[in-house]
Amino acid sequence: MLFDSALWIVTTQVAAAMAAAMANQFDISSYAPEDVITRDVCIIGGGATGTYASINLKDRGQTVVVVEKEAILGGHTNTYTDPETGKKIDYGVHSYSNYSVVRDFFARFDIPLSKYTFGAKHQAFVDFQTGEQFPEFKPSFDFSAYSAQLAKYPYLPTSWTLPEMVPEDLLLPFRDFITKYSLQDIAFTIWEYSWGCGDILGQPTVYMLKAVDQPFVEGLEQGLLTTARRNNHEIYEKALEELGSDALVSSTVSAAQRNEDEKVKLVVQTPKGKKLVVASKVVVTMPPKIENMQTLGLDSQEKAIFEQFDNSAWYVFVVTDTATAPSRSPPLPGMYNLNPTPVDGIFAGWYGGPNAVSMEDAKSDILRSIVRLRDEFGVSSTETPRFLACNSHTPFQLTVPTDAIRDGFYESLEGLQGHRNTWYTGAAFLSHHAGPLWNYTHELLPSIVDAA
Ligand SMILES: Cc1cc2nc3c(=O)[nH]c(=O)nc-3n(C[C@H](O)[C@H](O)[C@H](O)COP(=O)(O)OP(=O)(O)OC[C@H]3O[C@@H](n4cnc5c(N)ncnc54)[C@H](O)[C@@H]3O)c2cc1C
Ligand SMILES: *[C@@H]1O[C@H](CO)[C@@H](O)[C@H](O)[C@H]1NC(C)=O
Ligand SMILES: *[C@@H]1O[C@H](CO)[C@@H](O)[C@H](O)[C@H]1NC(C)=O
Repeated sequence: MLFDSALWIVTTQVAAAMAAAMANQFDISSYAPEDVITRDVCIIGGGATGTYASINLKDRGQTVVVVEKEAILGGHTNTYTDPETGKKIDYGVHSYSNYSVVRDFFARFDIPLSKYTFGAKHQAFVDFQTGEQFPEFKPSFDFSAYSAQLAKYPYLPTSWTLPEMVPEDLLLPFRDFITKYSLQDIAFTIWEYSWGCGDILGQPTVYMLKAVDQPFVEGLEQGLLTTARRNNHEIYEKALEELGSDALVSSTVSAAQRNEDEKVKLVVQTPKGKKLVVASKVVVTMPPKIENMQTLGLDSQEKAIFEQFDNSAWYVFVVTDTATAPSRSPPLPGMYNLNPTPVDGIFAGWYGGPNAVSMEDAKSDILRSIVRLRDEFGVSSTETPRFLACNSHTPFQLTVPTDAIRDGFYESLEGLQGHRNTWYTGAAFLSHHAGPLWNYTHELLPSIVDAA
């Protein structure tokens, strides 16, 4: 009995000390003055939308600080520089919708744009798991039947505002939707443009209509843009330089205090130690998976929303010494494609599936696929393909189950805008298309600036 109560006293003392330490981390006076960063807006995540928001808010006269976990900005945009020729290879984001926000954003940094064209002259369709080729296969590019379906849902390209009674077709597993509307001919091409989305046939149709949406189909037909210097990362390098000390890279938020009618306080772990960001508003642009979000100090409403997200996995790589021809194909997890690049002998490719795998497992599976391809094409080589670069873009697509969509999940998600001085942009709030996302962010920013 005596022993029990002694233990209880020790436990409460430890808990009290921990609580004091936790409270203390939000106390400005416990930081050196140079470690307190006071700004109008703190942006979390410095990828496509986070960088756009930071620069655009600055241009609107706001003071900003962006917190990015990687050492560079750019998120899904990857550019490899060949050390011998200095040539650039974009192996993440390739192309952009021809929107005024896109042209304006690149123009702001003096980066010329040009029409996007696909690089490969020859294509071969191969099952990477078996090496089997499909020489007769010709994918269709006739989107008319698919576009007729898209036209029924004009709200999808610009929002997640679904009708209160969500149309049942949007909730069908995509394989049933394909059958219902006889879309088999275009299914391969849709699959090709929704790489990274995991099990596309099993997921609710609405996610596929977002992945290959009307603006994207129009872009394929009318022309997409890319950077004329074929260096999609340049804009992020210039933005990082301009932001200077307003960008905290290799940094993450470890704790936050977000109360209505009070400044937000965020404890940020940086390579130069712990900082306290004091901001009027927060814009979250990182993928809002519960693992990322919980350090922001969630209330029960936020937690109930973010814990529902599941995600797919996507990895990108640059290889050499492959001794193969380029190709493309289906089964997952696995390799999506292997494409030639502006540098002879260097290929870039994508790998993905419904679930995360370790980078090592992804790399060994990629190597096996390349060797199988080599055997199938009768290329004799003893060289082991060498990776020049590889990156994980996991978590990629965020999804929730059909019932959650039917029960108003996305209305609750959109309802979080402005809740506890926090706003959101990024793929989970719209779709995985940079142009439409910059437009969405552009439209959202004035309300953030104007909010009390
Ligand atoms: C391989 C690939 C190719 C693509 N190609 C195209 C294309 O050609 N055209 C197109 O329009 N779209 C393309 N996309 C889709 C792309 O996702 C979107 O266009 C857009 O980049 C999404 O922007 P975002 O800001 O939501 O996410 P991101 O650009 O990924 O930005 C999110 C940022 O948050 C950071 N972050 C994550 N967790 C944390 C954390 N805990 N703390 C702080 N920071 C964090 C990430 O490092 C990242 O920088 C492609 C995607 C991939 C993966
Ligand atoms: C993009 O749109 C502009 C303005 O409408 C137009 O002048 C230009 O030709 C388009 N570019 C491409 C590649 O489609
Ligand atoms: C930009 O977003 C607004 C608001 O959602 C929308 O009305 C407009 O059509 C969008 N512009 C484009 C080019 O999609």
